[in-house]
Amino acid sequence: KPLFVLNGPNLNRLGTREPQVYGTATLADIQRLCERAAGDVAVDFRQSNHEGQLIDWLHEAEDKALAVVLNPAGYGHTSVSLRDAAACLSIPLVECHLSNTAAREDFRRTSLISPVAAGVIQGFGPASYELAVIAALRLTGATA
Ligand code: DQA
Repeated sequence: KPLFVLNGPNLNRLGTREPQVYGTATLADIQRLCERAAGDVAVDFRQSNHEGQLIDWLHEAEDKALAVVLNPAGYGHTSVSLRDAAACLSIPLVECHLSNTAAREDFRRTSLISPVAAGVIQGFGPASYELAVIAALRLTGATA
């Protein structure tokens, strides 16, 4: 089974989106980092701007994925439904953010996902994803 790496809204704009906050790496660059970090484990890397699509992918992950790395982006701060979908999962889910949300605006301090995630990695830019992939694979017992 692959590792799902799921990306929420506006992350398709990485590279040009607020580079002072998010850097200049594109989502394609981040996908390559995840694939490298996962070693022999396949990575199913996806992005959507739509809440329901992300929820459907979490449901799909239950049977099809080894584990999930999720950057919920803005929905992490607002979406009860995305949290409920994450809470349904019996496979490990690692929450990941490029920026350190604890050091930004107050409205980013709350994550609805964190309480139902195995753990959170944030603040290391694209390396957050590499570390999240390693953490997720450790939790499944697969090595990387
Ligand atoms: C983000 C942080 C969120 O607060 C923000 O809404 C994003 C990106 C990050 O990766 O740093 O869209 O998830």
